[in-house]
Amino acid sequence: MEVLDGFERSSIEKAVESLRKGDVVAFPTETVYGLGADVENPYAVAKIFEIKKRPKFDPLIVHISDKEWVFRIADLVPPEATKLIDRFWPGPLTLILKKKDNIPGIVTAGLGTVGIRMPSHPVAHDLIKSFNGPIAAPSANPFGYMSPTKAHHVAKLLGENVPLILDGGESACSFGLESTIVSFRDGRVYVHRHGAISFEELSRVARQVCEKEAAGVCESPGQLPYHYAPGRPLKIVDSADEIEIAKSSFLAFTTADKNPPSKYVKVLSPRGDMREAAANFFASLIELDREDVDIIYAERMPEKGLGKAIMERLKKASKKYSI
Ligand code: TXA
Ligand code: MG
Repeated sequence: MEVLDGFERSSIEKAVESLRKGDVVAFPTETVYGLGADVENPYAVAKIFEIKKRPKFDPLIVHISDKEWVFRIADLVPPEATKLIDRFWPGPLTLILKKKDNIPGIVTAGLGTVGIRMPSHPVAHDLIKSFNGPIAAPSANPFGYMSPTKAHHVAKLLGENVPLILDGGESACSFGLESTIVSFRDGRVYVHRHGAISFEELSRVARQVCEKEAAGVCESPGQLPYHYAPGRPLKIVDSADEIEIAKSSFLAFTTADKNPPSKYVKVLSPRGDMREAAANFFASLIELDREDVDIIYAERMPEKGLGKAIMERLKKASKKYSI
């Protein structure tokens, strides 16, 4: 693992190279350190979940370097969002907006929305700008730990799993607290996560700012019992031998070696690589969710590493028809 001075041009170039190769890079922002990957590379994004040991796929925040990029990622930018962008970007405010199709499902955990923010820290800005594309990044800590605000914390917490850390020096993470996350509905602004920008500050710019709970809006994944469910019923099986209905789809983990009778078959990772399986998961399930099948069978996989996150999704999806 290398820790490089983020203010050096050569470090940024090296980091950009890593991102292009599909590697992750830890970088400083004005809130906390982020663990970044190329938004458009699902395999690279899957590495983030693996390194963080997240038990499930939480949606990731997409980081941009120019306000205009928001229109490449979001489908709809309501007037209240524009107001907040004008006042708080670049800075620690994340906006949840309807997403465009070019954002892979693994970034948003299958949601139709995407969290976007434009960091103000010069190293983060320089990295995203030089990469010339959005970077998906959660905080650079293992699941359940506090977010790191120093390069050496990242090194200690994530160790050799992160090949490159950009050090933002003393000016990094001046807020030391994650960004405030908001969504929009009917002219209102809903606060999903309190963070570096206060409720009061938001209220000075937007007319109606509300707590998310008060409105009964529940858009965070993992809170609804069958949030990720496809349209067709889904059944988890131990192998293709259990497939009883031919008018079906089969989501296989490694090889569909039993020549399954299903009409449609997708193999998540022929070589049994969890990272590859995770990267393909959302897209494959969507493709198998077809009008002309009655049921989707999904092969059970080992609940280790990313397999746990995938199985959690599958269990949730299968619950829709058992509750
Ligand atoms: O300050 C920050 O926001 C830092 C720096 C690195 O930018 N990032 C950060 O990311 O805190 P993370 O992944 O640790 O927290 C992001 C939160 C998660 O709780 C996730 O559920 C929520 O944002 N989130 C992201 N996209 C969402 C969406 N489309 N809908 C609902 N919640 C979303
Ligand atoms: Mg976090």
